[in-house]
Amino acid sequence: MKSWMGKMKAIMLFGFLSLLLAGCGKENLTALDPKGYGAEKSLDIILLTTGIMVGVFLVVIIIYTIVLARFRRKKGDNHIPEQVEGSKKLETIWTVIPIILVLIMGIPTVVYTFDLADTSEASSTLNINVTGHQYWWNFEYEDHNVVTSQDLYIPVGEKVYVNMLSSDVIHSFWVPTITGKMDVNPENVNTMYIEAYEEGVYWGKCAELCGPSHSLMDFKVIVVSPEEFEQWITDMQNVDPEEVPTDAVAQEGQELFQSNCMSCHAIGDASSAGPNLTNFGNRVHFVGYLEPTKENLVEWIMDPESLKPGNKMTGMYEVTEEEAEKIAEYLMQLKSTDVTPESAGGLID
Ligand code: CUA
Repeated sequence: MKSWMGKMKAIMLFGFLSLLLAGCGKENLTALDPKGYGAEKSLDIILLTTGIMVGVFLVVIIIYTIVLARFRRKKGDNHIPEQVEGSKKLETIWTVIPIILVLIMGIPTVVYTFDLADTSEASSTLNINVTGHQYWWNFEYEDHNVVTSQDLYIPVGEKVYVNMLSSDVIHSFWVPTITGKMDVNPENVNTMYIEAYEEGVYWGKCAELCGPSHSLMDFKVIVVSPEEFEQWITDMQNVDPEEVPTDAVAQEGQELFQSNCMSCHAIGDASSAGPNLTNFGNRVHFVGYLEPTKENLVEWIMDPESLKPGNKMTGMYEVTEEEAEKIAEYLMQLKSTDVTPESAGGLID
């Protein structure tokens, strides 16, 4: 009786936790509430395969229960049931049924995979060169001479092609709410298209173990209206990397930034070894996950290793805390446009 109670308690706890944890997902980080073409197709396949697997499970359990109940050996009954091993009919049935089920799951998977990799319209739509680095993402709008990192701006309702390459190890580009994942290799460009259905800020993840800070290699996709996107492009093109801030502290920060940080970072459309920091003040997060506050930024500049182990910035410069504060002040003021994550609806946590 006691062990039965224990089992019941365990089952109830498991059920409760399942319900509780089911509510833990982020609205902008789930393939179960798709807001884009690839994610929608993924959900189709998830539902199809789950449906088929649950169906198979139920059929097996039902047959199993019937057999257990009906063909139980009764007391005093020693008769041996009819032996059916080697039955061609049965073996054909249980070979053909799984083949049909695998085909039902496999055909749409293959069709969707080829569909998402279809580059036939790439020349007439927006192309973005995505480069994966340990542990951040670079986004280059080649046709517009715009370079940015970590925040990927795209127009709503349009096919956008991402051409992906890695500068070091294999990464994987994944924006669960908008699209499925694709590997980002060092040797060859992988292309897929993404299409977002709703404006908003969505969470992107690196989905391939790429080093100690793999789990911090997050980025954001900011989906805006086509008009806002045009505005964003124009504003980004008009950024003057040499522009001197009006604020005196930020001015000093800019000088310190130029002498300490510009060997790896860039502002404007230049490419750089480290993240391009144009429009930094409008970032959703920096380092992948930190709120862009001055306090966090100073902490990061002073000790990047503790916040993102294995990053390439550690030990590349020496600044005092006072200098770090000035650099942070300068970076926080780098706001190039009114088209921001907030104007797109903000990050839903
Ligand atoms: Cu890059 Cu994991």
